[in-house]
Amino acid sequence: MGSSTEKPLLPESLPTETPAKRTTPWRKPLFIAISAFVILRFALLPIFFPWLRSDLLSNHYHHHRHDLKSGCEQGQALFPKSLDVSELIPGKEAQIRDWLSGAVKIPTEIFDVMGEIGEDPRWDVFYEFADYLEKSFPLVHKHLTKTRVMTHALVFEWQGSDPSLQPILLTGHQDVVPVLNATRGLWTHDPFGGEYDPETDLIWGRGSSDDKSGTIGALSAIELLLESGKFKPTRTVVLAFGIDEETGGKVGALNLGIWLEEKYGKDSFAILVDEGSGLYEAWGQVFATPAVGEKGYLDVEVKVETLGGHSSVPPPHTGIGLLALAIAQIEKHPHEPYLNPESPLVGLMSCGAEYASDFPLHLKKAVHKVEESLSYGGTVNKKALKEIEDYWVYGSAEDGSLVKGMGRAFVSTTQAVDIVNGGVKVNALPEVVTAIVNHRISLAESVAELQKHLIDTLSPIAKHYNLSLEAFGKDVQLKGCHHQLTDAKAGKLILSEAFHSALDPAPVSPHSVDSAAWRLLSGAVKAVYSTRPDAKDDELEANKDIIMAPLISTGNTDTKRYWNLTRNIYRFAYQVTKGGGLNNVHTVDEHIQGQTFVEQVRWFMHFIVLADEDREL
Ligand SMILES: *[C@@H]1O[C@H](CO)[C@@H](O)[C@H](O)[C@H]1NC(C)=O
Ligand SMILES: *[C@@H]1O[C@H](CO)[C@@H](O)[C@H](O)[C@H]1NC(C)=O
Ligand SMILES: *[C@@H]1O[C@H](CO)[C@@H](O)[C@H](O)[C@H]1NC(C)=O
Repeated sequence: MGSSTEKPLLPESLPTETPAKRTTPWRKPLFIAISAFVILRFALLPIFFPWLRSDLLSNHYHHHRHDLKSGCEQGQALFPKSLDVSELIPGKEAQIRDWLSGAVKIPTEIFDVMGEIGEDPRWDVFYEFADYLEKSFPLVHKHLTKTRVMTHALVFEWQGSDPSLQPILLTGHQDVVPVLNATRGLWTHDPFGGEYDPETDLIWGRGSSDDKSGTIGALSAIELLLESGKFKPTRTVVLAFGIDEETGGKVGALNLGIWLEEKYGKDSFAILVDEGSGLYEAWGQVFATPAVGEKGYLDVEVKVETLGGHSSVPPPHTGIGLLALAIAQIEKHPHEPYLNPESPLVGLMSCGAEYASDFPLHLKKAVHKVEESLSYGGTVNKKALKEIEDYWVYGSAEDGSLVKGMGRAFVSTTQAVDIVNGGVKVNALPEVVTAIVNHRISLAESVAELQKHLIDTLSPIAKHYNLSLEAFGKDVQLKGCHHQLTDAKAGKLILSEAFHSALDPAPVSPHSVDSAAWRLLSGAVKAVYSTRPDAKDDELEANKDIIMAPLISTGNTDTKRYWNLTRNIYRFAYQVTKGGGLNNVHTVDEHIQGQTFVEQVRWFMHFIVLADEDREL
């Protein structure tokens, strides 16, 4: 998307050197002096001393100056006026932990292939989970309206007194990834024991982090607010909890999204907060990094159909051989990394450059160059942008940053051949063989572009081996090919979408202080962080301020079903992740720190009350 021509740094309206046609001897030195002054004053100085621009370009460039400053402009910590929710925590810590422990004990496992609800008994555990919620959160059940969607997905509505205010939406999921029998023995603690160890302050078990901390966190916050009797919502609060997030939300979130859109309408919510990334330390600074975008997704089936026959008289390539050639061709043409200047990842780097003491100096310079070029010329400084991209592709593995080893996946479409099928008999040529390639589409690309890439990549193979090519429901004309579609001898290469999986990258949610939703989110994060109980003995006392920075997610949460409900979708959990680990999410020994969860509940309360008072939202 970056254009191929670099515009000059300075706008055309600025005075430039205009050589006089005829110069007299006395004019020449004067001309040189004036030119030198003009060049120095208007062209060079601003490059070396960018802040000098502000005075000389004041009116015309006011708008751009504003942009320049806001590379990572931070909002204020915001405290609700009506209630200090921190008062509601002391004495409740054990209760809060118990709520989560109890939820972990109910094994709401979800499997890739599930039957219908009501037929497949594996869904029935969600009844038990709903019963648990009812027993644990009596006030929530008394004061909020609960609706079952597709039997087990749950919506809770806490009616606000002012219907003119857009409601907020907090979402999460009840399901957890299964604990494989083979790994059961590897768990230090019973995966569904919900054990709490007071010594280490850890709660153990599947779902303790992903995502029962989210669902139970929101419910705990509301139960405590109700219990206090100090808060009645003006703005409606809606909770929606899916049941199959871990297998794509095609039952739970899909129907929740439809239900919510039918009842509330398109773009009807002020903000949506779902599970997602949390608080991380990077480059000597603590960041809160809500994911403001998600990569897209596409599973592609690559199929080769050839004539069968006896393997004693084989052609040079069997179907398997041809498929192997196609796979090799795909892997030979990986997607190039591409960071576009609008990417939230550039925004994140701006925040690093501006606020993190250990941020690499060369990157800081690159970030400034990118910001500069965008502010004044409109065309990005590509060399500097490439340097930032290279950091994601090559450098991010080393410096203990927040995305250890994941950088490349953040800036490119990825492909992985994960399933292959074909051949049943050792003396028979296989007639149909398939492979499935999983793709995660970068924010700068789309499903359609990815499909075109695959067609372009595989056409030469099809042509060379005399295969006709059908791609995504259409026959592809291979240039200079006469055997088109009719040469049954050679066979057919067919590309198609598998598992109804196509998903474009998510729309990017606003992530600057110009956005009321981002200010609200920032305000709640900064306020709760600044009043954290362990602030005093924190090693990072010097950097007490937490910095809000945008991130993206390489996977998808249930939010992919909620795009119609609001533009302001944030995948974020107020959780401190110590040491860069991810609480063993999706693997053995998943856990969460008790204190972390208590703080998460405090954040939910703070956020709900703050959103209630917010009139800019
Ligand atoms: C896992 O183990 C349990 C109990 O031993 C058994 O009932 C279940 O069938 C096993 N599941 C699989 C998928 O093997
Ligand atoms: C493709 O077909 C042409 C014409 O029938 C033939 O000459 C050529 O050898 C074939 N190529 C392969 C790789 O089979
Ligand atoms: C969102 O709105 C579009 C356009 O009205 C519609 O086609 C789509 O089904 C809706 N739902 C989701 C989940 O995108």
